[in-house]
Amino acid sequence: MRNAAITGWGMYVPEQVLTNHELEQMVDTSDEWIVSRTGIRERRLASTTEDTTLAMSCRASKQAIQVAGIDPADIDLIVLATVTPDKFMPSTSSLLQTELGAHRAAAFDLAAACSGFVYALAVGSQFIQTGVYRTVLVVGTDALTRFIDFTDRGTCILFGDGSGAVVLQASDADEGVLSNVLGSDGRGAHHLYIDGFDSNGLYAANGNGAVEELQRTYMKMNGNEVFRFSVRVMGETAVEAVNKAGLRLGDIDWLIPHQANLRIIDAAAKRLDLPRERVWVNLDRYGNTSAASVPICLAEAADSGKLKPGMNMVLVAFGAGLSWASSVVRWGSQGVRGREAERDG
Ligand code: COA
Repeated sequence: MRNAAITGWGMYVPEQVLTNHELEQMVDTSDEWIVSRTGIRERRLASTTEDTTLAMSCRASKQAIQVAGIDPADIDLIVLATVTPDKFMPSTSSLLQTELGAHRAAAFDLAAACSGFVYALAVGSQFIQTGVYRTVLVVGTDALTRFIDFTDRGTCILFGDGSGAVVLQASDADEGVLSNVLGSDGRGAHHLYIDGFDSNGLYAANGNGAVEELQRTYMKMNGNEVFRFSVRVMGETAVEAVNKAGLRLGDIDWLIPHQANLRIIDAAAKRLDLPRERVWVNLDRYGNTSAASVPICLAEAADSGKLKPGMNMVLVAFGAGLSWASSVVRWGSQGVRGREAERDG
């Protein structure tokens, strides 16, 4: 089996910032409440014209391709994790393929909500490990704020938009994706969802089903249930991925977690016995960007230079489904070369 190494990374967040103080003007909440309960201070909102899911994916992907130093024509497969595609069909990944000039690539979207990127990483890495493909672009992009009811203080404080991407390449070195754990429990589906279309092609009824409400569909969430689930599952699935990789907790250098709530992240870090300085946190700036959160963290961590060859990290996410996913990744020297290439322009 060959290894699937991360050799390129990129991220994009929209320009428009929405602060907690601005939210105070919109719903009955306070900066103090949001920071103390979630850790979030501000988030980015996708512009309806500039920041389509395709456009955000394209920016993050181009960076990742540049860092990896590959030609887009080298890409064998694009897996794009999103639950907010611009169109039902074709897939956003097909549109992305054309934008990038990755004309040889197979392309499909993958929907696993906030777990989507880690699911996609598992899929992409397997195509490399089994020898089917050599170069895979894995993208996580969401614009969930399009489906947020900005009169619902239970959800509107949590989410932001963005995109992150990595290039995976076949490697014979001791690096790359070491293990994957994927999980789902559909019994919890009703705790976190966005309705789709009903059999008349209209958005399924929200609320009382009044005609004007059929025009929009909003995220519904039972925050307490999701919180309980996530505190349990983040730690459990992270430990499972470490065991599957044949490692011990002491071998883990970094936790790159889905950015939903600082209290949830802290619980996972505690389970892994990692101090805060070994946990990548950026939800204070971006909130929960769904499938984009883990690759945005990864891109920031890689750019910071704090990831050294041979370091092991756990990527872990959870979300609607209810779903969860984790991977152990060993950072390699190809990643360092990528960074140098990026620095040299
Ligand atoms: N501002 C101020 N008060 C708020 C509020 C807000 N934005 N949202 C809820 N409250 C109030 C509640 O109405 C409640 O008031 P009450 O005690 O008078 O009834 C009180 O604050 C406590 O609410 P509760 O829901 O118990 O708070 P919490 O500590 O569980 O935090 C979440 C709420 C949503 C932040 C938390 O449950 C959470 O993060 N859940 C996970 C959500 C998630 O990660 N979703 C995405 C998964 S990918």
